Amino acid sequence: MRLDRYLREAGCGTRSEVQRLMRDGRVEVDGVRIRERGVQLRAGATVMLDGKVVRPWGLRVMAFHKPVGLITAVRDANLPTIYEVLPFGPDRMLPVGRLDRATEGLLILTNDGTLLHRLTDPKRHVEKEYLAWVEPEIREDAVSRLREPLDIGRGEITRPAVLAELTDAGAVRLIITEGKNHQVRRMLKAVGHEVKRLQRTRVGCVHLGDLPVSGHRDLTEEEERGLRSETGLLK
Ligand code: URA
Repeated sequence: MRLDRYLREAGCGTRSEVQRLMRDGRVEVDGVRIRERGVQLRAGATVMLDGKVVRPWGLRVMAFHKPVGLITAVRDANLPTIYEVLPFGPDRMLPVGRLDRATEGLLILTNDGTLLHRLTDPKRHVEKEYLAWVEPEIREDAVSRLREPLDIGRGEITRPAVLAELTDAGAVRLIITEGKNHQVRRMLKAVGHEVKRLQRTRVGCVHLGDLPVSGHRDLTEEEERGLRSETGLLK
């Protein structure tokens, strides 16, 4: 296969982006910097971009730090979607569940339909952890109500939060096992508070950590195994 096609298929960018990466001397094959896009790869060649091995696409699972302002959708007629800041399209990777436009933080992306289905299956109860900054200032009695079933309107009652506590930074840390529409905002509204800022910091065993805003990374093998085991795909 030609090197430029390999890089495109590995999700390194569009045709012109890949050309630029090569022109800029960021691509190496078996330790040799390659700038000509017509080069054919021998079977088993090691391709590196910026010193990191580039794998053929295959089945992948990624962590993405969704910024505020983008919608979690494959396309939209009016609003910018997460694909504005990702170097691949929805033909490559789909979001697992949804974060609201005004919510930032960890979104899992995958092209593994079985895993996607399991992670969004309401029967699976995968933990999701959030930090919510609210107004007016929240008191312990309101926080403790989040640990009980809550009527969040439209006939929906939540399962109790696994954890709800106030952090030193004044945010509410909330761990829930469901993904109802706008759930965290509605839970906090039900106890009298408006969410001013909402960040998802964890899905199952995967933490947002210090992934920069709009950045993405492949999950480690351990994280991927963890998600598969939490969703019953690995025994
Ligand atoms: N709960 C919300 O209210 N919004 C999100 O984006 C995710 C959970």
